Amino acid sequence: MWPERFPRSAGYDAEWQRGCAMGPNPLWLTEWLHEAMDREPGMRVFDLGCGRASSSIFLARELGMRVWATDLWIAADENWTRICDAGLRNEVTPIHANARSLPYAKGFFDAIVAIDSYIYFGTDDLYLDYLVPFAAPGSQIGVVMPGFAQDIGEELPEHLRPFWGQDFWSWHPAAWWRHHWARTGLVDVQCADNLPEATELWQRTEEGGEEAHVVEADNGRYMGMIRLVARTGPAETG
Ligand SMILES: C[S@@+](CC[C@H](N)C(=O)[O-])C[C@H]1O[C@@H](n2cnc3c(N)ncnc32)[C@H](O)[C@@H]1O
Repeated sequence: MWPERFPRSAGYDAEWQRGCAMGPNPLWLTEWLHEAMDREPGMRVFDLGCGRASSSIFLARELGMRVWATDLWIAADENWTRICDAGLRNEVTPIHANARSLPYAKGFFDAIVAIDSYIYFGTDDLYLDYLVPFAAPGSQIGVVMPGFAQDIGEELPEHLRPFWGQDFWSWHPAAWWRHHWARTGLVDVQCADNLPEATELWQRTEEGGEEAHVVEADNGRYMGMIRLVARTGPAETG
C-alpha cells in the first residue's frame, strides 16, 4: 500500500492487489496514467494487455468507465470470475485476444490504455499504425511501462545483469518512446515522462525478493517507469 502517493489504489484489499499483479502494482500505474488522461464516466476504454484485469476493474469502479479487458496470457474465463466478484458484469468485458490481431471495430474506443504490456509488442515500428484506427478520432492512447530513466548507451549497466531477461530488451527511455510515436504523425504526443517516484516504486515491487539488491544498486539511475500519452488525429475527410 502506498496511500500517500496512490490514494485511490489504497482502497483495494492489499492481498487482492498482490494476487492480481504480474509486475509493478497495476493499480498504482493506472492511477498515475490517469493523472494525464481524460477521465469521463461512460467512456469506452480498451485495456490492452490487462493481465488479471485489476486495472480494468479500477477504471470501471473509480472512474465509471466501460472497459474491454483484453489479454493474451490470462484467460477471459479467469478474468470474468474476477470481474463478477467485483460486481462489474455490465461495466467490464473480458476478451482473450492477441494485440496483433484484435477483434474490435475501427473507431470503437474513446480511449486505449496499456499497463506494463506495451513493451511486448509496441516497439514494432508498425504497431501504432495498426492500433490507432481502433480509437475514435481525437481520443487518447496512454501506456505505462518499465523503461530507462536515462539512456544506457551501448552496454547494459553491469549491476542490472542479475535482473535482466530477454524480454527486457524493449525497455527504452521516455525520449525514445516520444520519438517512436511522434515521427509517425499519427498522434500528437502530449506526455512522455518517467515516474518521479520510480525508485520507490521498484523498491516496493522487489522488496524482500531476490532482486531487491539490484534495485538498491541502481538507486533510480536507470530503472524507470515510463508514461506515454498521445491524442489521435482528427478524422480524415473526403
Ligand atoms: C507483465 S504483464 C502485465 C499485466 C497487467 N497489465 C499488469 O500490470 O499486471 C504483461 C501482459 O501483457 C500481455 N501481452 C503480452 N503480449 C501480448 C499480446 N501480443 N497481446 C495481448 N496481450 C499481450 C500478457 O498477456 C500479460 O498479461
